[in-house]
Amino acid sequence: MSEEKERQKPRISRRQFLTYTLAGTAGFLGSTMLYPMVRFAVDPMLKKGAASEFVDVAAVDEITTTPKSFQVNVKVVDGWYKPEEGQTLTAWVMKQDNGEILALSPICKHLGCTVTWEGSPEHSNEFFCFCHNGRYTKEGINVPGTPPNAPLDEYETKIENGRLLLGPIKKRGV
Ligand code: FES
Repeated sequence: MSEEKERQKPRISRRQFLTYTLAGTAGFLGSTMLYPMVRFAVDPMLKKGAASEFVDVAAVDEITTTPKSFQVNVKVVDGWYKPEEGQTLTAWVMKQDNGEILALSPICKHLGCTVTWEGSPEHSNEFFCFCHNGRYTKEGINVPGTPPNAPLDEYETKIENGRLLLGPIKKRGV
């Protein structure tokens, strides 16, 4: 092939080279940023097994109609929030009037502080959140006019051989 023909071959321009380089770099950076976001969004759906574990908490005889706090080790806690392995949370456990056991999450539905049974002397027989004066009834229902806009979440419960076992959190509506 002659030198003249070689020079006439179509060549990539500087502008095209820059366009391709920038597009390639942007694509690479975009995909590396997108992957963690997609992974974060679908991760809980991929881990079905973690939600089926129950933890032995107490003898059923220990549970009264007054909410009592028990420490529990749970994996799936509140929507996208999952504590590290081994981290403990408090469950407020009580016997209801119908004899059924209710175990409530202590995580306030406003901004995630911890609620306490009868935490405020002005509001007896209620759960109270010190952060912004959030209040809940004994059944964990948010009191209208206070910051929380949803009831406290509830643990799944089951009784085996006279022992109370707590399972994953189940939401109770918004
Ligand atoms: S975090 Fe509980 S009232 Fe705001």
